[in-house]
Amino acid sequence: MKKIAIFASGEGSNAESIVNYFRTPGSHAEVALIVTNRPDAPVINRAERLGVDYAVITRAELNDGVTILNLLDRYAIDIVVLAGFLLMIPCGLIERYRGRIVNIHPSLLPKFGGKGMYGNRVHEAVVAAGERLTGITIHHVNEHYDDGAIIFQASIEVDPTDTPADVARKVRQLELTHFAPTIAQTFL
Ligand code: GAR
Repeated sequence: MKKIAIFASGEGSNAESIVNYFRTPGSHAEVALIVTNRPDAPVINRAERLGVDYAVITRAELNDGVTILNLLDRYAIDIVVLAGFLLMIPCGLIERYRGRIVNIHPSLLPKFGGKGMYGNRVHEAVVAAGERLTGITIHHVNEHYDDGAIIFQASIEVDPTDTPADVARKVRQLELTHFAPTIAQTFL
């Protein structure tokens, strides 16, 4: 049984769908731990409701080179999944999990990626640019923001009347459909 840790800073809708996906009978993986950097993140309520262990870590703990690796070791984590985690991942963690750490981004990278591009800011930029197509990108994580090898992309049409909230809803649907199966196909 492979053990997954999900890092999330906010709502946690992707985290919840991944937890449930790997709880189906015959699954070869399980979400053993959710890590967040925000003590008030809604993902914590989801973890409690789902009965998944969670840890709140500070930025300093993430970056001190030992705390996060010890935590992941304690849970024997094989795979790290970033699902709306907004802090930069330190090099030590990337090195230890190289090839076993993935992120989801709510646009068709390389478009609308990079530092400061997350969540609704991405959808606002997509609408402002008059894009007719947007989507999701699931990619390996390297030392640069939104830059690792792409594993999977899926797109949806942006209608001329769509608001950023409309785009967010469509993109969320793609995320909930594709993220967990892509993790399974990549690692299991
Ligand atoms: C998701 O839309 C994810 O693609 C995005 O944050 C949201 C998290 O939602 N990630 C980024 O923007 C990363 N740059 P969730 O907490 O409900 O899963």
